Amino acid sequence: MIAIYPGSFDPITFGHLDIIDRGAQLFDSVIVAVLSNPSKRPLFSVEKRVEQIRYCTEHLPNVQVDYFSGLTVEYAKLREAKVLLRGLRVLSDFEKELQMAHTNSTLWSEIETVFLATAKEYSFLSSSVVKEIAQFDGAIDHLVPANIVQDMCEYYQNK
Ligand code: PNS
Repeated sequence: MIAIYPGSFDPITFGHLDIIDRGAQLFDSVIVAVLSNPSKRPLFSVEKRVEQIRYCTEHLPNVQVDYFSGLTVEYAKLREAKVLLRGLRVLSDFEKELQMAHTNSTLWSEIETVFLATAKEYSFLSSSVVKEIAQFDGAIDHLVPANIVQDMCEYYQNK
């Protein structure tokens, strides 16, 4: 069974990578799908995010990284996948995630959303938290892989 793990991943964190790792053990293949949405004004271009995630997941043979625009369910149909994988951290995620899962199933009744509880050590972690710390030159090496630390440093140095 193929699972799509959609998200912004701006940037990818250890929390996301934990979900990818565990998803890769549960499904035949996992497609990490980066949403291309320039109106969200991402820090990194979609091509850069794909490159970053490929580097972080190259040890996982059944994980692919791709990008998409538009509706996630349309992308899932294109890739012949009927499962969306999402991580749940805290209770406040639940409302948004449930709404998204229900919305997606009204758009395509065959889609199923599977939630994995994020590892407890990363329950506080989000891409926004990483950006918040990095812009003030704080340590992020316990939150994101080394290639992301490097890219974030370069981004804020050149700003
Ligand atoms: O990492 P994020 O920002 O929480 O991911 C959100 C994402 C990309 C999964 C969500 O915004 C999405 O699926 N966007 C594509 C548009 C879409 O399909 N909308 C309908 C579901 S609400």
